[in-house]
Amino acid sequence: MTAPLVTRVASADAAAIADAVRQLAAGGLVAFPTETVYGLGADATNGEAVARLYAAKGRPAFNPLIAHVADVAAARALARFNADATRLAQALWPGPLTLVLPKGAGCAVAELATAGLDTIAVRVPDHAVAQKILAGFARPVVAPSANRSGDVSPTTAAHVLADLGGRIDLIIDGGATPVGVESTIIACLGEPMLLRPGGVPRQAIERALGRRLADPPAGFAAADDAPLAPGMLASHYAPRTPLRLEARRVESGEALLAFGPTLAQGAEKAASVQNLSERGDLIEAAANLFSHLRALDGAGANTIAVMPIPRDNLGEAINDRLARAARPH
Ligand code: TXA
Ligand code: MG
Repeated sequence: MTAPLVTRVASADAAAIADAVRQLAAGGLVAFPTETVYGLGADATNGEAVARLYAAKGRPAFNPLIAHVADVAAARALARFNADATRLAQALWPGPLTLVLPKGAGCAVAELATAGLDTIAVRVPDHAVAQKILAGFARPVVAPSANRSGDVSPTTAAHVLADLGGRIDLIIDGGATPVGVESTIIACLGEPMLLRPGGVPRQAIERALGRRLADPPAGFAAADDAPLAPGMLASHYAPRTPLRLEARRVESGEALLAFGPTLAQGAEKAASVQNLSERGDLIEAAANLFSHLRALDGAGANTIAVMPIPRDNLGEAINDRLARAARPH
């Protein structure tokens, strides 16, 4: 248990960024916006700060964290880049891409943050507020999504406060996050492998690599003990209300998560309706996904019916998140 804290919320001006840097240096927990979702930051080199972070999230301690840095040079101080990793970093950083790489010899990141693995996940976020905090702090910052473990990822400061208020020191409010789903995770340990679909579509990764990506081994995403990305637990992205996917009509007592201009049959009797994108735009849908799920989860419906969503581009990440959210937990 962590003692209750007073969580301050500050809008992202220069004073707030200086405050965030001071808090991180003192071992504090600071939530801040990235282009994907809000992250809960701690000094990656401070094992106690990392432990407090796991406690605040209620996250299983075997689940390793992403180290965030301001630029490629800082990432190279943490990890070994092969030719594929170098190509991806040059083409797609800063941006919603995380690389899992062999830990470098001089890597200062606390063992707890990588859950004892000899690999490390690193990312250079493309968001002005995240960039200023990372440049000001000048050390790696571990930042899982700023939600309690098992809840949906936060895309606004209000989501963070609702989930983690009283458990963290500071929230820097930089408005809604533009991408809305987490970063794409690629392991560059041998053949490059897609570990988690996310903000960079597979096609963009394959274009930068000049070849196709390997898929993870079968059964990989459901395991939680010693897989490459143990964070991809079956229940990772889960609202409390059960989800019914590929719904073409709404049953009584259900809420509706819609997509596109034509609502599912029976939408008029839905307990509540949120449309991911009326114009059927997957980028807009990704940006709305977690906040709409949250809104429907609070609507008192017995089930959330989810209309079919295309699987191309960001649709892969959206369907992946929904499939996880739909599993019993
Ligand atoms: O967009 C994002 O990536 C956000 C923002 C805040 O940057 N962060 C985020 O972190 O989604 P988190 O902790 O919620 O998800 C990190 C994922 C987990 O599934 C974890 O298991 C995986 O990255 N991961 C971390 N280190 C790893 C490693 N060494 N090998 C394989 N997977 C790793
Ligand atoms: Mg998360």
